[in-house]
Amino acid sequence: METEIAGWLSVVFRLVHVVAAIMWIGNSLLFTWMELNLIPAPPKKDGEENELLGHLDMLHGGGVFHLQKKIINPAAIPVPLHWFMWQSYTTWLSGVLLLISVFYVGGGSAMLDATKTALSGSTAIGLSVAGILGGWLIYDTLWKTGLKDRKWVIVPLSFALILATAYGYNQVFNGRMVYLQIGLMMATCMSANVFFHIIQNQKKFMASLLAGLPHDLKYGKQAKLRSMHNHYMTFPVIFMMLSAHSPQVTSAGQNVPILGVIIATLMGIKLLMNSRYHFKHWLATAVAVFTLACILISVLLAVPTRQESSAATGVVAGGKRFVSLGCAACHQVGAAQIAPNLVGVYNAPQPLADGSTILADEAYLRESILHPQLKVVKGYAAAMPSYAHLPANEIDELLAYIKSLTSTP
Ligand code: HEC
Repeated sequence: METEIAGWLSVVFRLVHVVAAIMWIGNSLLFTWMELNLIPAPPKKDGEENELLGHLDMLHGGGVFHLQKKIINPAAIPVPLHWFMWQSYTTWLSGVLLLISVFYVGGGSAMLDATKTALSGSTAIGLSVAGILGGWLIYDTLWKTGLKDRKWVIVPLSFALILATAYGYNQVFNGRMVYLQIGLMMATCMSANVFFHIIQNQKKFMASLLAGLPHDLKYGKQAKLRSMHNHYMTFPVIFMMLSAHSPQVTSAGQNVPILGVIIATLMGIKLLMNSRYHFKHWLATAVAVFTLACILISVLLAVPTRQESSAATGVVAGGKRFVSLGCAACHQVGAAQIAPNLVGVYNAPQPLADGSTILADEAYLRESILHPQLKVVKGYAAAMPSYAHLPANEIDELLAYIKSLTSTP
């Protein structure tokens, strides 16, 4: 019952989450764009501080927005003054609720890969929560140390920590969850940056303005580093959050190195996009980086997994087909969520929706692929499309692959 309620709630949370995230990311990208396009104001002749920092004109909605960025005069604090934070908080809160309703309520085993581990679902939940909280603590502490000014040390170090974490999770979690977990950890850092740094600094200088003190730009500069982190994390996090739709990469044998290439490439492309005002060849370079990354990922995708190199050819072909036909999108190997876990299904008793139980022999598995609606597995919606159009040899390969899926001893 509770999994059914959670299933329905997940539909609501997903919608709220996606809408809030679009609003947050849209704002964040637009603000960075405005910052980069701001025409700086010239310094005042008498050497006095110019209250105007810059201006910008934007055509939209039938008129021109004439935008000025300026230092606030404590005697004339603008009213209303808009703050931006709820998009971020709503994204995080709805994301956590979505995570709980999709993965935690069901007991956590949907995060694991039964071919890799025999861990319990509750341990999986513990590992996931620990990563989300611990990830923030480590990131926040690291970027408060003296290393923060040594970019050539701290950026590669942060990147290596992300990959090591992904490698660790990949020992027990299924590919989809590895990508999602790293996405969750980075997205949590983004929202926590807003909550603990960006908004706190804004509160500090607003408090001093209200006390009649001049606008201190120091606070804005302190928050700026974390704003920039959020900016560069945006593209990779979007990819990881949507990665359930790309089982080709999440379930690849080299899924962790591929994740590394994706994160580095997307951050690099954002950097090139931002450099377009002073780097003439930014677009050609960005296209080259993107193309190279695609080639590198294709090479990594072609590396056979350990199971593949020892498996019979039919099984390997079936495994590839399982991913390319989209079976893997619903049947995440080793997990049971949208669709039943196929690990160990062969020759095991299978409870059906009509209350009966059937032995999952080859004939039953074949029928499940050709005419999935005839016998529906207990606890699942009759959501599987029919694959009756596939040639017989492809079905045989799929069956060989499914039969080869056994859990860890
Ligand atoms: C849209 C999601 C979806 C896709 C795509 C999908 N399935 Fe399924 N599959 C399900 C669901 C849901 C069930 C359980 C309900 C049922 O029995 O029809 C299921 C059941 C099965 C079963 C029976 C499992 C059991 O425990 O008895 C097999 C075998 C199977 N699918 C294989 C495949 C193969 C092979 C492909 C790709 C060619 C595939 N599925 C694609 C959703 C999907």
